[in-house]
Amino acid sequence: MRALGARMYTDMSGLEILEVPVPEIKDPDQMLIKMHVATFATGDAIVITGQAKLMMSKKPKFPLRVGITGSGTVVKVGQAVTAFKPGDAVYGMAFGRPMSFIPHPGYASEYAIGHEDLFLPKPAALSFEAAAAAFASTLTAYQSVELGLRLLREQGAPAGLEGKTVFVPGALSATGNVGVQLLKHVYGASRVIATASTAKMPLVRDRLPSGTVDELVDYQKHPRLADVVAPGSVDFAYGTQWTLDYLSVMEKRRGVVVNIAALFPAQLFREIMGDVVPFWLLWIASLAQLYYRWRLRGTNIKMGVVSGNAGAREDVERVGEILATGKIQPVYTVVDMKDIEAVREATDKVQKIKGGIGALVIKIA
Ligand SMILES: NC(=O)c1ccc[n+]([C@@H]2O[C@H](COP(=O)([O-])OP(=O)(O)OC[C@H]3O[C@@H](n4cnc5c(N)ncnc54)[C@H](OP(=O)(O)O)[C@@H]3O)[C@@H](O)[C@H]2O)c1
Repeated sequence: MRALGARMYTDMSGLEILEVPVPEIKDPDQMLIKMHVATFATGDAIVITGQAKLMMSKKPKFPLRVGITGSGTVVKVGQAVTAFKPGDAVYGMAFGRPMSFIPHPGYASEYAIGHEDLFLPKPAALSFEAAAAAFASTLTAYQSVELGLRLLREQGAPAGLEGKTVFVPGALSATGNVGVQLLKHVYGASRVIATASTAKMPLVRDRLPSGTVDELVDYQKHPRLADVVAPGSVDFAYGTQWTLDYLSVMEKRRGVVVNIAALFPAQLFREIMGDVVPFWLLWIASLAQLYYRWRLRGTNIKMGVVSGNAGAREDVERVGEILATGKIQPVYTVVDMKDIEAVREATDKVQKIKGGIGALVIKIA
């Protein structure tokens, strides 16, 4: 069968269509799925370029495969699978926790193995593309907002996001577009401030449901956020980028930041990677937390860091319920796996965290 991947560590120009065997069910909770679409995310780029190798003590097996989330139709189920049967349309993720993302099954393939617990039934109203595009970003945003609400309660702020102002960088990034919709249309945040690059400013209104973003800032024209957003006006920030410039506009006594692009604390690295996490990474992680504390000095702002966890089944099911309501219309770009040049060009944007629009969806069949 055909699968997208690379025979060695490479930049995106080395991605190719590989010929690999159809996988077989090995555990009773597994399903064989005919994949229709898969996503290519920053995590895939880290694996293919070899950046993730620095974080692993085990040698990866080549060829490497891509596609951490995907959707398709169940072909065969293991003996213990009760929630799905052949013919069911499903969407889900390749790993839970600890996350062994080298090697992972690579959902950008004609067929793939999925664990029952990491999948959801796909509602008919949700396309295969939208389901794959939305799943991981909605799960990460949901877990981030729930942590944010807990931290806000600890700060003594009134419950919920009603009456609150939230900030999300990257209104059309894979994580940001879903984040702004979840905050506004599911959690009822009163005011959503988001950013976009100059070229994407006019696209935000077209691509997101109306009324999602209340204030859109061109982050290239206004590199200092405090020049255009009132300092002290933001209660909650969902940090989808490395930069922490939004600290300048946060409410200093009760503000909360949940970041998904920050370096994880040592404990989170241990939870994600299990016992393969090297000691030097834990040192760097601890140093990074000191840096974040230094950035928060003189304020009472609380900061949490989240890595989306598909191993939390209750959260996965809640995400399924949210997506079934249609309140989140994910933004995504589709490329056909057969058009390898288009695949290389689109995945290069993901690797560079620049120029993509929404999630990158690879169409397989
Ligand atoms: N912790 C987790 O579980 C988790 C999950 C998913 C992703 N992440 C991390 O979150 C980050 C974003 O991932 P993603 O999937 O959303 O990426 P993405 O959609 O592939 O790309 C990021 C987009 O952000 C925009 N951008 C770049 N610099 C920006 C800035 N300074 N301010 C605002 N927007 C900016 C770019 O748009 P322009 O072209 O318009 O500049 C780009 O299209 C990555 O670092 C990724 O590793 C973490």
